[in-house]
Amino acid sequence: MSRFQLLFNMKSLIVLVVIVSIVTCKKQSKPNIVVILGDDIGWNDFSFHGSNQIPTPNIDALGYNGVFLNRFYTQPTCSPSRAALLTGKYPMRMGYQGTPLNSGEDRPLPDDVETLPQKLKELGYKTHLVGKWHLSAGRRKDTPTGRGFDTHFGYWNGYIGYFDFFAYQPMDPNDTSTGETEWSGLDLHDGFAPQWEYQNQYATDLFTEKSLEVIDKHNSSDPLFLMIGHLAAHTGAHGTELGVPDVNQTQKDYWYIDDPVRQRFADVVNRLDKSVGDVVQQLQKKDMLKNSIILFLSDNGAQTVGIYENHGSNYPLKGLKFSLLEGGVRGSAVLFSPLLSKKGYINNHLLHISDVYTTLIELAGGTAPNNTDGINQWSTISYDKNTQRKEILLNVDEIQGYSGIISKLGRYKFLNGSYLLGIYDGALGETGRNSSTPTYDASKVISSAVNQAIQSLSGISPLNSSTISTLREQLDISSCNQKTRTSDSPCLGECLFDLWKDPCETENIVSSSPTIAEKLREKLYNYVSQIVPERNRGVDLNSNPKKYNNTWCTWLDDSECYKTLL
Ligand SMILES: *[C@@H]1O[C@H](CO)[C@@H](O)[C@H](O)[C@H]1NC(C)=O
Ligand SMILES: *[C@@H]1O[C@H](CO)[C@@H](O)[C@H](O)[C@H]1NC(C)=O
Ligand SMILES: *[C@@H]1O[C@H](CO)[C@@H](O)[C@H](O)[C@H]1NC(C)=O
Ligand SMILES: *[C@@H]1O[C@H](CO)[C@@H](O)[C@H](O)[C@H]1NC(C)=O
Ligand SMILES: *[C@@H]1O[C@H](CO)[C@@H](O)[C@H](O)[C@H]1NC(C)=O
Ligand SMILES: *[C@@H]1O[C@H](CO)[C@@H](O)[C@H](O)[C@H]1NC(C)=O
Ligand SMILES: *[C@@H]1O[C@H](CO)[C@@H](O)[C@H](O)[C@H]1NC(C)=O
Ligand SMILES: *[C@@H]1O[C@H](CO)[C@@H](O)[C@H](O)[C@H]1NC(C)=O
Repeated sequence: MSRFQLLFNMKSLIVLVVIVSIVTCKKQSKPNIVVILGDDIGWNDFSFHGSNQIPTPNIDALGYNGVFLNRFYTQPTCSPSRAALLTGKYPMRMGYQGTPLNSGEDRPLPDDVETLPQKLKELGYKTHLVGKWHLSAGRRKDTPTGRGFDTHFGYWNGYIGYFDFFAYQPMDPNDTSTGETEWSGLDLHDGFAPQWEYQNQYATDLFTEKSLEVIDKHNSSDPLFLMIGHLAAHTGAHGTELGVPDVNQTQKDYWYIDDPVRQRFADVVNRLDKSVGDVVQQLQKKDMLKNSIILFLSDNGAQTVGIYENHGSNYPLKGLKFSLLEGGVRGSAVLFSPLLSKKGYINNHLLHISDVYTTLIELAGGTAPNNTDGINQWSTISYDKNTQRKEILLNVDEIQGYSGIISKLGRYKFLNGSYLLGIYDGALGETGRNSSTPTYDASKVISSAVNQAIQSLSGISPLNSSTISTLREQLDISSCNQKTRTSDSPCLGECLFDLWKDPCETENIVSSSPTIAEKLREKLYNYVSQIVPERNRGVDLNSNPKKYNNTWCTWLDDSECYKTLL
């Protein structure tokens, strides 16, 4: 080959490379979107909020390199939070504001709402769900693949065992038609096909493996939407198990935690954190990270005690899952994307879980339907600009009789009543600030899989331990402005809190601030007048897994189900 030919070939190679990059650039302009949901994990269960008990270096690293969404509100329980996330609507617009769905309960999302995966699919995305759905599965059309996901590997109901993948449903033993205390059946499906072969594997690891497979198989010239709904750290089998692969190892690793249930909880959360690292690393391996948005959030606060208690902690916030106090609804959320203009900061603007819907659809180049409650928060998140959000309706549950609203700028919260007379309004979680607890290790954050993957991108400033400790100190609100948290003072009537001065809701100022209370009461009434009544129906006795070879099947499409003789 002559010098001339070589030069010529190199020139055509360069031209080719340029053309290829223009073509791929154009095709790749829509960002990949990965949403990872934790289940019933509390404010104090992430190490970035200031506790040293449970190391979450990967999730922390998303925030230190990206943005901590410090005033991100969710619904107080699972199904309503997921409904708001996937529809952009307050659950009370769909009759979804009540208690979470039972297994075998027919309460699908209304047919006419356009779900997030449905909208993204129209915009050219490949859409996948791994893990939890919890938005009803009586008919095939109501399941994830009926509502916009190309594929689903995971479960339809609220929780499954960490190793047996059975969904459990407590039954009323006094109901003479069943006389049983619990129903259970396999709830691990690939599309509609029951998956028996994975039993005895560990749920978090299995969902990670399937998520990595989705990314690996994905043709990166298409935009990807992957949602991962983890079981961690909901209780599993019989609604009580917190499954860990090796209990003895767990006891060793978390020796500094006294409560054996919280030791397990810590292990469950730490394994979820590792999964986040694996997923981000896989995106980088496929060269997709440079054009991705990764959002991690918990669906609601931790359920420290009571039904499905997992001994998670919302400290220093008051209230557990089900409560509209901050512990139930002030979400833990972090977002990383190389597309963020401002990175490595704490965002204090008012955000609601329904905003995720609108923001992602518009980032994908679409327009969100105009009858939703979410707003596009991208400029708020990416540039730290003021939000257009006027207020947040926390919920109106007309059956349980409690409701709440947060005012503009997130300053005031007005509540009217409490779930079950306030049994979950206490401040019960561990502080995690114990002298015997090992200190926070910034080097673990720096060496985490997430940080390593992010740092290998171009144009990212290196993360150092002084940035980490500065941000972490600001995120730690445990002093609550010098106010001591009150141990137990349920909001039985009307309550008003000044969240700027009193983020831990220690002082009810409803009688001393009547003008503010009246304004919020009026706004709340306005929402109350718009509610679609709750559609809760309880367990449909025809859904019994015994009929279907001990699996939960789409019982209202009975002909599609494999039946066994009772
Ligand atoms: C069943 O009935 C007994 C006796 O009336 C009552 O004490 C118990 O609370 C009932 N159990 C449930 C789950 O309703
Ligand atoms: C990926 O998608 C592009 C565009 O649709 C197509 O040309 C290409 O063949 C696909 N690659 C693979 C490996 O399927
Ligand atoms: C865990 O420890 C207990 C008691 O020390 C022992 O009996 C058991 O075999 C251990 N389990 C495993 C899986 O190593
Ligand atoms: C909302 O969208 C619907 C359907 O696209 C349209 O018919 C209607 O005019 C819109 N309403 C407003 C207020 O923009
Ligand atoms: C600190 O840990 C010790 C022993 O594990 C325990 O007895 C004590 O109650 C803890 N203190 C706080 C403030 O949590
Ligand atoms: C740490 O990183 C920040 C942000 O990139 C930078 O401003 C600061 O100078 C760095 N500090 C040290 C000690 O390297
Ligand atoms: C507050 O709750 C009471 C009792 O359920 C109800 O009568 C009243 O209408 C509620 N107020 C608002 C603003 O919703
Ligand atoms: C029925 O359930 C058993 C496990 O109990 C499983 O091995 C078998 O494959 C199932 N049969 C069908 C047809 O799904």
